Formats: sequence, C-alpha cells, structure tokens
Amino acid sequence: MKIAILPGDGIGTEIVAEAVKVLQVLELKAETETALVGGAAYKAHGHPLPDSTLALAKAADAILFGAVGDWQYDKLERALRPEQAILGLRKHLGLFANFRPALCYPQLTHASSLKPELVAGLDILIIRELTGDIYFGQPRGRRTAVDGHFPGAEEAFDTMRYSRPEIERIAHVAFQAARKRAGGKGGKVTSVDKANVLETFQFWKDVVTEVHAAHYADVELQHMYVDNAAMQLVKAPKAFDVVFTGNMFGDILSDEAAMLTGSIGMLPSASLDVNNKGLYEPSHGSAPDIAGQGVANPLATILSLAMMLRFTLGQPEAAARLEAAVDRVLTAGLRTGDIWNEGRQPNTRRVGTAEMGDAVVAELKKD
Ligand code: IPM
Ligand code: MG
Repeated sequence: MKIAILPGDGIGTEIVAEAVKVLQVLELKAETETALVGGAAYKAHGHPLPDSTLALAKAADAILFGAVGDWQYDKLERALRPEQAILGLRKHLGLFANFRPALCYPQLTHASSLKPELVAGLDILIIRELTGDIYFGQPRGRRTAVDGHFPGAEEAFDTMRYSRPEIERIAHVAFQAARKRAGGKGGKVTSVDKANVLETFQFWKDVVTEVHAAHYADVELQHMYVDNAAMQLVKAPKAFDVVFTGNMFGDILSDEAAMLTGSIGMLPSASLDVNNKGLYEPSHGSAPDIAGQGVANPLATILSLAMMLRFTLGQPEAAARLEAAVDRVLTAGLRTGDIWNEGRQPNTRRVGTAEMGDAVVAELKKD
C-alpha cells in the first residue's frame, strides 16, 4: 500500500507534518512518499502539478493533501496558479465524489458563530460533485461579444454543464451515503439546485428524481433551491442530513456549513473516484496569513486521515480509534486559536499546531 503525501503551501506543510506523526503511530503497513504540489512545486519545477507529482498521485492508493495557494502566485497566468494543482488532481484522477462532513463537537459548541442550541449535536454531510459543472465546462475564455447587452465589448464566459451519467453516478453516491448514515436503510437527501433559473439544474433535478424513484424509495428526497439552502443552513442546520449538490454550489455551501461547526479548521474531506481511491484533505485552505507561525489547527488533516482509513484503506477500527483520540484531546481542553474562546470556556488551554498533533499521538499511544 502506498500513500502519497502532498503538503503543498502555507499551513499545508505544518498540518500535514502532524498528520504524518499520527500515521507513524498507527503503524499501518503503508509506504509513504512525499512530493511538492501547488506554489511550492511551481517554485521548484515551474508547474503547480509537475508530471512527477501527478504520476505519484496516480500510482498511490491514497493521497494525503495539505493545501495550496499563496498571494505571491495570484498574478501568474491561471494555468500556473497553485489552485490548478488540486483541480488537476481531481480531473486526472477522476475524483468526482467529494464528502464534506460538518460535525459540531459538543466540546466546541461555543466556537460557532450561531447560537449553541442551533448547532449542538449537528451532524450533516455535504456531497459535492467535483469534476463537472462550471468548474470544468468548456468552452470558456475571453472574447469580443457578438450579442448581449454590449455587442462589440470585451467579455468573459464559462460553461455550466452536466451530463446524465455524471449526475447519475453522484446521485447514487449521495443516496447510498444517506442509507449508510441511517444504518443501512432510510435517511434523507436534500438535492440542492437552481432549477427555477438554470437548464443545467432543471436537468440535475430531473435525473436525481429518476434515480431516486428507480432505486431509493426508502430514502427521503427533498429538492431545494440553492439560495434557500444557504438560508436554511444557518436557520435550522439540524434539519439537514445529506446535502447533495453540484460543484460550484457545493464549494459555497460547504464553506458555509463549516462555520456552523465552529471552525473550518476541524473539517476533513474525502474526494473519491469510482473505485474509492481517494484524496484526503482538510476543507480549509493554505491560510497564508498564519503560515509559518505554528498556530494552525491540524485536526482537520488528522481527521482526513481517519476518513482515508475508513474509505480507502478499509480500516474502520483504526479510523474510529483516531476519531476517539481527537475527541479526548478536545475534552482535555486543548484548543488551537481558531477554536479557542478566550474567557468563555473554562478549563481550556490555547496550544499550537505541534502540541495539538503531539496530544493526539499521546492519546493513541494510550490505547
Ligand atoms: C475547495 C477549494 C477549491 C475549489 C479551490 C482551491 C480550487 O475552494 O476545495 O473548496 O474551489 O474547489
Ligand atoms: Mg472551497
């Protein structure tokens, strides 16, 4: 078994270092290999996703990814920007199914910007389609307008599109995830669209309805427009179970859902291909504003490792062990800056990235 380690930029290197410590204590029979990605790879090799890194990612059974991006690369042409690395990996590896759980730990209820009673016990799962939609649709570019409000003017355009098989396969993932969460049968899927305006998302809604009717009568299906979903997520987040949507809406709603839990620094994610091979990364970005200070929260990355154990490496017991260790560290009162609430939570202590990682390692060693 081989795990590719791609730390990337900014806090990516700091948080992945903690996850690697955890990986070592777990004593999996897995070989690891590290490579540059994002801005770091651009600096060294002139490309954010060098062939060697892509080849390693393809050859590996699973990928642990940190984060990419830094202001210093914002002026590069789009194809060379760090973000292209993660988009390229998703595309070349066919990682179409993105799982973003949003779980509010009881210990962190007070870290959320919402009222504690709204988020206490929150446990929802966002399933985002990850290789289609306006993110990848062609054609796209800049040109001179031939029609519209200003013919002859310079314009830019992107293409929103989804094919039937693309919608069908991610719909199966969402319905099956709902069933699994419900213990094998049932559960609820909220399919988020913009069918009232967009052809693409009327089609999405139609196909999702068909897949549901043909195979998943036990799962409750609800359709919701994306603007309303954004509102309901802050109004009554616990009314959701699986939130299922396309690439762009999923990008936006998953950041919103993250804040319900107190901090995006707690949220792991998995991006899977048709064979459950996956790339695992924290839901947050490279946070260049705090990079190099040793203050970032490594728990989202450590919890991403737990998802890797569960989804790709077939080791659910080890995943549960790791999640329990994280839970105990939070109960013991350790808090990185993002989940620390000065004066509002007694018996907590502010710690840095390495201390948090070491605490998880120490808990694991007690098992
Ligand atoms: C995410 C990120 C990426 C996205 C960026 C870095 C390309 O925001 O994973 O949500 O837009 O998908
Ligand atoms: Mg995003």
